[in-house]
Amino acid sequence: MSDSRILHRSELDLPLLHRGKVRDVYRVDEHSLLMVASDRVSAFDVVMRQPIPHKGEVLTMITAWWLAQLEGRVPHHLIAVDPERIVARHPELAASRDVWARRAMLVHETDPVLVECVVRGYLSGSAWKEYRDSGTLAGEPLPSGLEESQRLDPAIFSPATKAQRGDHDENITVGRMKELLGDDLTERLRALSMEIYGYGRDVAEQHDIILADTKFEFGLRDRELLLIDEVLTPDSSRFWPRESYGVGRGQPSLDKQPIRDWLDRQDWDKSPPPPDLPAGVVQAASERYRDVFRRLTGTTLESFDPPRFGDDR
Ligand SMILES: Nc1ncnc2c1ncn2[C@@H]1O[C@H](COP(=O)(O)OP(=O)(O)OP(=O)(O)O)[C@@H](O)[C@H]1O
Ligand SMILES: [Mg+2]
Repeated sequence: MSDSRILHRSELDLPLLHRGKVRDVYRVDEHSLLMVASDRVSAFDVVMRQPIPHKGEVLTMITAWWLAQLEGRVPHHLIAVDPERIVARHPELAASRDVWARRAMLVHETDPVLVECVVRGYLSGSAWKEYRDSGTLAGEPLPSGLEESQRLDPAIFSPATKAQRGDHDENITVGRMKELLGDDLTERLRALSMEIYGYGRDVAEQHDIILADTKFEFGLRDRELLLIDEVLTPDSSRFWPRESYGVGRGQPSLDKQPIRDWLDRQDWDKSPPPPDLPAGVVQAASERYRDVFRRLTGTTLESFDPPRFGDDR
């Protein structure tokens, strides 16, 4: 990939709906969006100034890889990810193709449900902190004596409200989620999330990846509930290498560990502006993302043919 294929920030000639930490989301027509995954990387919730080559493509293609497997089981928002099919549907996007090809998803626009559906199959991160401090997870008591990174069987649904820009997501109880969304929608979201996580955990395990936890987002389109956003990616999930797993301690992350390790050695208070990442750290992180892709899908990123969906198959 030459430098021109590295993207920190896109400027397409379309209405920009949202510039998130990672994605630039544009309106393509009345009902569909182009979600462009940039190569931006965040650590400790702060976006770094240096892009990570191939990262956006990895996130988009991993999402497409999972959604192709979930076709027919879970309704989702993806219309097309293959650049040929995107241009066939929207010829006006041909001119900017080099900017977005293989990193963009054409999706159905939805009304996002404002609760993030987190499923935890291992005790880590904020869940480990909650358990250590109060013996609970998502407000529900857990057995005593669990250790950090221990597997949870069954996995636990632990919703969070979506933070406003710059804030951290806030964990909530299922009871609170029912107050916000109603019993029926809460139960549907919980059941779907548990099912998709269970499928993903099993598949990842076959590839020596522990899918410790993950976050799903859903949206409503007409009255249909769709799985939206990125799906089971290293940005929305904790992926741990199986060979170094052990309970009673934190685990290295498959993708961001070179960045985290380097940042930990800097004198930085974890608020913006972040320090500049050295080229070696950027390179190591880029290779990590490509390794995760290969390990999970069994194919190199370069040789991966984007799957086709719906009418395009
Ligand atoms: N099909 C869809 N319809 C509507 N919105 C969607 C759809 N799919 C994803 N989104 C939204 O697009 C955004 C993706 O951007 P991105 O992942 O970069 O944001 P983020 O960093 O997670 O959050 P923030 O906006 O707080 O920075 C999310 O806000 C997500 O909820
Ligand atoms: Mg996101």
